[in-house]
Amino acid sequence: MSHHIDLDELTASERYKLLTALVIPRPIAWVTTVSLEGTTNAAPYSFFNVFGQDPAIIILGLEHKADGTAKDTENNINMLNEFVVNLVSSDMLEDMVQTAAAYAPGESEPDILGLSLTSSKKVKPPRLTNAPVSIECERIMSLSLSKERSILLGRAMGVFSKNGLINAATLHVDWANDYPIARLFADRYAEIGRIRRYSIPRPKRARKKKD
Ligand SMILES: Cc1cc2nc3c(=O)[nH]c(=O)nc-3n(C[C@H](O)[C@H](O)[C@H](O)COP(=O)(O)O)c2cc1C
Repeated sequence: MSHHIDLDELTASERYKLLTALVIPRPIAWVTTVSLEGTTNAAPYSFFNVFGQDPAIIILGLEHKADGTAKDTENNINMLNEFVVNLVSSDMLEDMVQTAAAYAPGESEPDILGLSLTSSKKVKPPRLTNAPVSIECERIMSLSLSKERSILLGRAMGVFSKNGLINAATLHVDWANDYPIARLFADRYAEIGRIRRYSIPRPKRARKKKD
């Protein structure tokens, strides 16, 4: 027996509740941006993933605030076209959640919360020094889907990583104890280190049906 729910009969917030509890886990982009005035902003976005390599597409799902205006991250990216996606290791979880509070545009979350910043190489926004990986991105385009929501496509241009995490010659990655945490739903998170990891090679060719 299965059960069907017509999503078109739910309210938007019910759809959010259900879909974000079903499509899990989601990675978290801890995005750093700068405003025109030079304030560095940091905020988490879990409507996030990488969608291809040529161009190297990074997508963020940006919801507007309850009053309908864009959040600081969206405003800053629209102004300067650049952002950094920092990945979040488990020791950074609490700091990451703190940056999701509603700080005013002129307030810098890293400054207020004492999070160390380091200059990036290819973009103006700095990266979070303690993030295991930071990805420098430029905006390609934004799709405005409704008054409340837009999708932002960015191009990844550079990667900073903690020493030892990426082998520059082979591009093999050894996360060691710095695996990024993932969002389950609401305020629940998952640590990859505790999830069983499977290694299943993809089939080289399609099978024929057995008779
Ligand atoms: C783990 C986590 C994931 C989040 N994901 C999103 C998201 O994908 N899209 C979004 O609009 N807000 C998301 N939020 C909420 C924003 O982080 C929050 O509104 C924040 O205040 C925005 O900050 P800003 O105005 O500095 O950009 C998330 C919050 C948390 C804690």
